[in-house]
Amino acid sequence: MTLRPAHISWILCTIALVVFFGAFFIVRPHPPHEPVPTAVAGHVRAEFTLTDHLGKSVTAASWPGKYMLVYFGFTHCPDVCPLGLNKMAEALDTLDTAQRVLVQPVFITVDPERDDVAALAEYVPLFMPDLVGLTGTAAQIDSAKKSFRVYAQREGDGPDYMVNHSAFTYLMGPDGSLAHVFSHDTTAPDMGAFLAKYLK
Ligand code: NI
Repeated sequence: MTLRPAHISWILCTIALVVFFGAFFIVRPHPPHEPVPTAVAGHVRAEFTLTDHLGKSVTAASWPGKYMLVYFGFTHCPDVCPLGLNKMAEALDTLDTAQRVLVQPVFITVDPERDDVAALAEYVPLFMPDLVGLTGTAAQIDSAKKSFRVYAQREGDGPDYMVNHSAFTYLMGPDGSLAHVFSHDTTAPDMGAFLAKYLK
C-alpha cells in the first residue's frame, strides 16, 4: 500500500492526539480520582492522634456516636481542596437537622509543615462552622495518611511547593470503620442523597 497524503494526515493526527492526551495525564496536578479498590478500602480505618485547629489533641474516638466525613488536603491547594470542601458543605446542607448532627466533617492536612494550628484556624471556617481541621507532626500525619490509604507527594522546592494528593471523601462509621468512599467526581446532590439514605 502506498502512503497517500490522506494517510499521512491521519497518522499525524493520531500522533498529535496521543501526545496531547499523554501530556495531559502527565502534567495534571492531581492523581486520577478512581474509586478506592475494594481490597484497599477494606483496610481503611480512622486511626489517628492529631491536633485540631483550636490546638486540642484529638483521636478518631473524640466524636463518640458520630460519623466522620473526612477529606485530606492542604490549605495552599488552589482548586481541588476548595472544591472538595465546598461540595462537602453543600452535601451536608441538604440533610435535615437530625441527620446533620450525626456527621462530623473533618479536614486533615497533608502539608503539616505549612498547615499549623493557626493556618487551619483561618481556613476551616471558610467552609463550614463545624469543620474540624487537623494537623500534627510529620510522623502523626504519615500515620493518619496510612490508616486512610491516602496518597500525597510534595512537588517542587521553595515556599510555594505543591502537594499532589488523592481527593477522596471518606464516610467513617462511629466505630472508625469505613462506610463509604466518595470520589472527587461525586456531585454534592449525589453525596447528600447518599448520606440521607445511609443515615436513616
Ligand atoms: Ni488539594
